[in-house]
Amino acid sequence: MKKKAAARRLKELREQVTEHNYYYHVLDAPRISDAEFDLMLKELLQLEKLYPDLVTFDSPSRRVGGTPIAAFRQVRHIVPMLSLENVFSENELGDFYRRLEKNLSLEHFSLVAEPKIDGLAVSLYYENGVFQRGATRGDGSMGEDVTHNLLTVWSLPLRLQESITAEIRGEVFIHREDFLKLNEQRKTRGLSLFANARNAAAGSIRQLDPKIAAQRSLDIFVFSLNEISKTKHLPTHWDMLQYLKELGFRVNPLVSLVENPEQAADFYRSLELKRRELPYEIDGVVLKVNELTLQQKLGSTSRAPRWAVALKFTSEEGITRVKGIEVNVGRTGAVTPVAILEPVLLAGSVVKRASLHNEDVLREKEVMIGDEVVVHKAGDIIPEVVKVNKEKRTGRELDFVMPEQCPSCGKELKRLTDEVALRCFNPTCPAQLIERIIHFASKGGMDISGLGESLSRQLYESGLVKDVGDLYYLNREELLKLERMGEKSAGNLLEALHRSKKNPLHKLVVALGIRFVGERAARLLAAHFKSLTKLAAATTEEITGLDEIGPKIASSVREFFEQEETGEIMDKLEKAGVNFYEEPERGEEDGPLKGCTIVLTGTLDGYTRQEAKELIEAKGGKVVGSVSKNTDFVLTGEAPGSKLQKAQELGIKILREDDFIQLIS
Ligand code: IVH
Repeated sequence: MKKKAAARRLKELREQVTEHNYYYHVLDAPRISDAEFDLMLKELLQLEKLYPDLVTFDSPSRRVGGTPIAAFRQVRHIVPMLSLENVFSENELGDFYRRLEKNLSLEHFSLVAEPKIDGLAVSLYYENGVFQRGATRGDGSMGEDVTHNLLTVWSLPLRLQESITAEIRGEVFIHREDFLKLNEQRKTRGLSLFANARNAAAGSIRQLDPKIAAQRSLDIFVFSLNEISKTKHLPTHWDMLQYLKELGFRVNPLVSLVENPEQAADFYRSLELKRRELPYEIDGVVLKVNELTLQQKLGSTSRAPRWAVALKFTSEEGITRVKGIEVNVGRTGAVTPVAILEPVLLAGSVVKRASLHNEDVLREKEVMIGDEVVVHKAGDIIPEVVKVNKEKRTGRELDFVMPEQCPSCGKELKRLTDEVALRCFNPTCPAQLIERIIHFASKGGMDISGLGESLSRQLYESGLVKDVGDLYYLNREELLKLERMGEKSAGNLLEALHRSKKNPLHKLVVALGIRFVGERAARLLAAHFKSLTKLAAATTEEITGLDEIGPKIASSVREFFEQEETGEIMDKLEKAGVNFYEEPERGEEDGPLKGCTIVLTGTLDGYTRQEAKELIEAKGGKVVGSVSKNTDFVLTGEAPGSKLQKAQELGIKILREDDFIQLIS
């Protein structure tokens, strides 16, 4: 075929494939058979192969998974990607609603109720209606560019019905059926199984090779739009969802307008009943204030919007059998019985162990080895045994007795007067030390990739690491002597350890594993005391003086720093060059514009140039005089100069004053 004819035919094919793809993947209502569709796609691919220069940016051929990328690029989200506040009961949902009524001085406002999709959050950037790139959430302000994999999501439109420029948010997920099939395949191939559908979706999106995502039939629902071109006036979230549909996106069909918390609770209950019948996993309901002006009034905290809340489903139950009971020694020495179960699928993940919490719970529930039990899973929390089906007992079940000695170090276990848990008080108990290393390296802590449970155990048992301070003194030769440790893994581990030295203080505080100090408390402590040395020297009064920090946390912090071992660990960490401070090293302000380079042009309405510059700097950005490819965006006012033109030529993002205000607020 001549090139001209090929171009014409390609245009036709692109349109047809795109259209039928939309019927099939977005509307779930195909108009032609799969075979017909495949034929069209095949023709398109063949023609494009012949004339590669005729491939367009929105060609469906881009979906089949092109060449692998070398590494993930970091992308800055225009608007930070926030998380959601959780509530755990219908009562708390009522409290949320009344709190907003009060804050807004309103008697009533409506909400949009949406299923909470259990997948992976992504941000999608469209310019003049064409999909440019997509990214994961990352730390909320910067994510990883995963465009190559998002292109393989057939329900994601590559060109919108209107040529707007916008950032769109949604959740990528995998259908339950596809997830089960995928795990089946992996099982036959001897590969490790994905624990649940969410992990499978996330694992697919975080691949360098898009061929992998292409094989996994991922899907997406979108739920928010931030239009940068500002052509569309959308007064409510509901209108926004309708508009997203008009643009060609897949919006969850179950979304519903509700007028009050009672209706929201009805929606929640009916969805909980329907949940198993849905072809994908959901883990709750998201409720959002409908009026966008009200959303704006309420604003957001640094973590989550004040106008939305997630009401998670409480549990998912299953029936299985207890094969045995083991005791586990945690990093604080607490000894917990754990039921070893016949594997059972719960909320999309395979469960093999369930916590029995402590001896009292074990007695109260009367769990015996061999019992048939009901297990449930609440959110991400480890599964629990709900009850024993005693009527199923055969008489062959065995009783379990808690040990009197620590299963790890053999020292006597004791119970503190006000506690139910048995504890091992031996400060050098191997099980505790290993758990502390695991915790130190975990994602919420120092995030040392490659240092998981088995390596932590190996490092401890080989004598190389006695406490977390020793981690930073490991060297290649020592590591290579470990079993199953190759050059590459050793190099990666040392690299990850090195990288972790730069972590901000709050991660280090989490990692140290002080009892009762989770991420929230660690952030508060780090923000206030600013250095580990100051925190270590703080008095209980100083610590309780902080909002949200109670005496329980304060005395635990004091106790932790008074231990001799803590001092030794701190010395090792400090000498190894581990960062003890919360502020970023360059003294940059932390803010929505952190790391952004911005150029100003034209006259702004609300600010003088100097004011704008100060404001940008206060929000973490930097103002420079001229546009280059390193410019993140140009802020334009009345009568902009040639800088605007230059920015347009270079394809640099252009923000008007109101976009900018929204961005920084
Ligand atoms: S709204 C600023 N709506 O849940 C509001 N999120 O736990 C942020 N999610 O990061 C999100 N379904 O990945 C929203 N209908 C829905 C959702 C949803 C799933 C995810 C999303 C978010 C996470 C927060």
